[in-house]
Amino acid sequence: MNIDALNGKYGIAGAARFFHGKGDLEMLELTTPKGSCELALHGAHVTAYTPADEEPVIWMSQHSEYADGKPIRGGIPVCFPWFGVHETDASLPSHGYVRLSSWRVESVTRESADRIAATLSTESHVSTRSMWPHEFGAQLSVTLGDSLSVALSVTNTGEASYAITEALHTYFAVSDIRFVTLEGLEGASYLDKLLETDEPFVQRGSVQFTAETDRPYLDTDATCIIDDPGKQRKIRIEKSGSLTTVVWNPWIAKARRMDDLGDDEWTGMLCVETANALSNAVTIEPGETHTMATTISVEH
Ligand code: BG6
Repeated sequence: MNIDALNGKYGIAGAARFFHGKGDLEMLELTTPKGSCELALHGAHVTAYTPADEEPVIWMSQHSEYADGKPIRGGIPVCFPWFGVHETDASLPSHGYVRLSSWRVESVTRESADRIAATLSTESHVSTRSMWPHEFGAQLSVTLGDSLSVALSVTNTGEASYAITEALHTYFAVSDIRFVTLEGLEGASYLDKLLETDEPFVQRGSVQFTAETDRPYLDTDATCIIDDPGKQRKIRIEKSGSLTTVVWNPWIAKARRMDDLGDDEWTGMLCVETANALSNAVTIEPGETHTMATTISVEH
């Protein structure tokens, strides 16, 4: 559907508008008196969330690609049906394939003057079956109100059960990663992907950042809070249907190796990912739906 047709069918004057964004990608902007957000149909990828009278909450790389078949760097990549490098075939796309192609618009609904929701969908088809031999239908719903909620629902439309790993791989904008702390994971077990060990560590106190960090925290449904004194705000990250929280910042050397992230951009971002990964993989029975959601808000 082209932009005019999308606006004709789903647009809402002053509240929901489709437009061509960077790389000519089709974008949806939602606006209420409480804030605004943007969503690319490519990957069902949230690229902006700005509550009214606040600075942007979501971080985007200035060097991101915006093209079919390429991931967007920043925002909220939807990682599915696997998280990270594929377990048995590293040539398959990192974090699965649904972030690499366009999703369909299912609905845009103004629920009240202050609240609007949009749902996009995708499903298994001939080219996904060669990478992952299972049948699914996936929906990504974004609800903008006092906060931003993002929910990924996956239905097993096949005849056999299967396991998935997944993430809402959220990049948050911070003043300077070296001066923020992440609260909520105290006492949780985590793996350190930068060390050659599968032995878990236990988080002592809040997380502070002094080097490259790449940690899946397992068996945790905790709310996390990014305390950012530089921006004089806290970002609250609540979640449901998720037992893994991945915390990631590439720091200096890895940022230099990444083409779609500027050499100095790592200071302004922190990924706190609502996920189900590794031993928290989720089994979905035929006909069942699993939903994982995150709700993001700002407090002072
Ligand atoms: C994080 C992983 O979730 O995503 C990291 O834990 C990875 O290991 C990062 O480097 C970025 O992944 P990608 O595929 O978007 O470059």
